[in-house]
Amino acid sequence: MKKLKIGIAGLGTVGRGTFKILTQKTSLLAKRSGAEIEVVAVSARDKSRDRGIQIPSQITWYEDAVKLASDANVEVVVELIGGADGVAYNLVKAALENKKHVVTANKALIAKHGFDLAKIAEKNNVALCFEASVAGGIPALKGIREGLAANKISKICGILNGTCNFIITKMKNENRSFDDVLKEAQALGYAEADPSFDVDGIDAAHKLAVISALAFGIKPNFASIYKEGITKITIDDLKFAEELGYNIRLLGIANETAEGKLEQRVHPCLISSEVPIGNVSGVLGAVLVNTDALGPVFFTGAGAGEMQTASAVVADLVDIAANRARNPWGIATDDMVEGQFVDISHHVGEYYLRFKAKDKDGVLSSITTILAQNGIGFEKVLQKLGSDKTANIILITHDVSESKVMESVDKISKMDYTAEAPVVIRVEAF
Ligand SMILES: NC(=O)c1ccc[n+]([C@@H]2O[C@H](COP(=O)([O-])OP(=O)(O)OC[C@H]3O[C@@H](n4cnc5c(N)ncnc54)[C@H](OP(=O)(O)O)[C@@H]3O)[C@@H](O)[C@H]2O)c1
Repeated sequence: MKKLKIGIAGLGTVGRGTFKILTQKTSLLAKRSGAEIEVVAVSARDKSRDRGIQIPSQITWYEDAVKLASDANVEVVVELIGGADGVAYNLVKAALENKKHVVTANKALIAKHGFDLAKIAEKNNVALCFEASVAGGIPALKGIREGLAANKISKICGILNGTCNFIITKMKNENRSFDDVLKEAQALGYAEADPSFDVDGIDAAHKLAVISALAFGIKPNFASIYKEGITKITIDDLKFAEELGYNIRLLGIANETAEGKLEQRVHPCLISSEVPIGNVSGVLGAVLVNTDALGPVFFTGAGAGEMQTASAVVADLVDIAANRARNPWGIATDDMVEGQFVDISHHVGEYYLRFKAKDKDGVLSSITTILAQNGIGFEKVLQKLGSDKTANIILITHDVSESKVMESVDKISKMDYTAEAPVVIRVEAF
């Protein structure tokens, strides 16, 4: 039987899982791909580290991962190190230039260099695969590229960061603060010691840049994405939202506007509690795609984890072995265009507004008057008295533009009855 010889760079969470699947399911994968996928070389930083896997002595160990790119025995380089630049970039670029196929789970790398790398792959007639880079094990990219090839996509909406979803879900279910749950997420290995990539929405934005490029035929554009994380979400807002019939989730959204431009945004959203994506909880991920022929399509499952992410890496290897991995972006790079993006200030939608105010007469009427002056009406109101002589006034607006909302909120924040900076969370309609 034909062999496909691979080198794995990075034997951490995903690398270890990939190694396990390849060595435990050799025969099944051979039947499915028509080739025996064999690991012939590996690289990681620390050779002595116990990884819970047996690496046979005939497998070459490289101290310098980039050397995998020039190993004549290696046909596919699997990059599982991480980082947009540095070793991961040098390795992937060199491998493609040396006419080796590449599989990677690295969203930071693909969001930043995915277009240029695909050009090199195309020129050298090799594959560049990155299914695991978005939504971990969920085959969302494959689903869009292949399964939805007949459709025009108008909107992509994803729960793209398991750490944030874990934190938000636990905060509400267990009535705990952001800082408290973050510590638990770190202890469980879901969040890094420096969690900012996750909780500030950067990781979700990397994934959104990738999936949006695929769905809309544009070059990935991370810089154009509006990014807002979950650090300001409080238990109060999670509970008030629930009382009004919503869940809060961090979503990555790319949607076409009426003018044919694109919004790309990552921010917390209120989602009606009747909508499935708003009920995706814990470390699970999800991707909802609105299409013209098929209608809405919903993918959900494990967005991260050792075997879960490795599942997507190995699926890419099977595609390469079966010789069916072409055009990672669904179309040739020559056909990919620069996206035309709309600034978040032009966003139109409903908003959740919470004003914490000193409990005195006329506050609600002052707030609604200021909103009305900017043409903002509302469909739901909730008033909650606090124990500290303040009251929370919560409003769900009708559809209104972001700039009008921000203008009004700024005015209200300066009123003498305002006790705390107002909270603004966008409501996402489905
Ligand atoms: N973890 C997930 O659930 C998940 C999900 C989707 C995508 N991803 C992506 O998958 C990639 C890997 O993530 P991970 O969670 O597996 O990371 P990880 O557990 O931190 O593993 C990283 C691996 O890279 C190795 N490494 C670091 N610097 C290196 C260098 N200069 N040369 C050679 N090897 C080096 C490390 O070596 P040592 O072991 O010797 O330190 C380690 O084995 C990242 O791009 C990540 O974004 C991860």
